[in-house]
Amino acid sequence: MLVLDNVTKAFKTGTFGGGTLPAVRGASFEIRPGEVTALIGESGSGKSTLGKMILRLTPVTSGTITFEGTDIATLKGKQLREYYRHVQGVFQDPFSSYNPVYRADRVFATIRHSYYPGVSADEWRERVDKALESVGLNPVDVRDKFTHQLSGGQLQRILIARALLLDIKLLIADEIISMIDASTRVDVLNLLANLKTRGLGVLFVTHDLSLGNYISERTIILRRGAVVEMGATPKVFDNPQHEYTRMLLTSVPQLHKKWEGGLGAEMEAMGVTPQDQDRGRPGRYSKSSLHPLAGMRARKGRRAQAAVHERDLAAGLLRTDTYLRTHEEVLPLVEIEEDHFVATSTGAR
Ligand SMILES: Nc1ncnc2c1ncn2[C@@H]1O[C@H](COP(=O)(O)OP(=O)(O)OP(=O)(O)O)[C@@H](O)[C@H]1O
Ligand SMILES: [Mg+2]
Repeated sequence: MLVLDNVTKAFKTGTFGGGTLPAVRGASFEIRPGEVTALIGESGSGKSTLGKMILRLTPVTSGTITFEGTDIATLKGKQLREYYRHVQGVFQDPFSSYNPVYRADRVFATIRHSYYPGVSADEWRERVDKALESVGLNPVDVRDKFTHQLSGGQLQRILIARALLLDIKLLIADEIISMIDASTRVDVLNLLANLKTRGLGVLFVTHDLSLGNYISERTIILRRGAVVEMGATPKVFDNPQHEYTRMLLTSVPQLHKKWEGGLGAEMEAMGVTPQDQDRGRPGRYSKSSLHPLAGMRARKGRRAQAAVHERDLAAGLLRTDTYLRTHEEVLPLVEIEEDHFVATSTGAR
């Protein structure tokens, strides 16, 4: 459905734009319909930049992005509007994308105007309410509020609801779970699962491995702007080949056994201490720590929070723009088993 071919993004840096920062380097992958593709990588690895290029919010420096056979760089006017009918994004920071003087219903009115001018006001309201309910929001609670009166999680869900009103085929979901509380989190995850059964493709951007593993069919591991490993999610998670993927997996905290019981056990587990965590051996991690609520639970409590922080540091998940990557070579991806690709220098492991 969507194919990226050798996509690169170099941002100009410095006062006179003299330097360049290679945010994405030679990324090639595809997003298929009816699947969730997880895009996983440390902070600053270029995930949002990739999402923004797919949404034409920022141009590619080189390479091509093709949607259903058409290079999206060539789209303009009506064609671009049609593209957005099918491809929508929900972003990490929903506060930045909306003008605070808008009421929530304005977010929907703009698409009615562009895409459904023939739909009556009553019919439109019905459709909006249905979309809001499907993302776990009560229409009367949110409809007439100004965007600044809504929580981050509510706004993100409003944006998902907005996308649902269009005839979307591809949703770019950039860290959408981050601002949502545990109970709604499950609703939104189920909603995404539901979307894929309807044939939608979802690019699920996250630095949370547990979420990525839980929700996706395919996984792409991005490191410093380059794809280092990708393939079927069970293959990448159970048989990680690239050292970076292994490092990410081993730095997921090994959670206390009690947590293995699933959601019911989570309250008991709130008191987790850093000592409860065992970093394990390379390539090994506990399944329970890959539960989509694992990170959320670990965030409760100060000691637990410190442990998470330590883990994030270990995994390089905290934003560090200081590393030098300009001269790093992009290694070719080699298929080591069916639907499992790894960047290697030798072409064989
Ligand atoms: N508009 C911009 N101008 C210059 N540099 C930028 C711009 N946007 C992003 N960058 C840089 O590009 C790199 C990739 O950023 P990006 O936002 O894509 O990372 P990310 O993987 O989404 O990280 P996070 O997990 O923190 O959201 C970073 O070094 C960032 O500082
Ligand atoms: Mg980002």
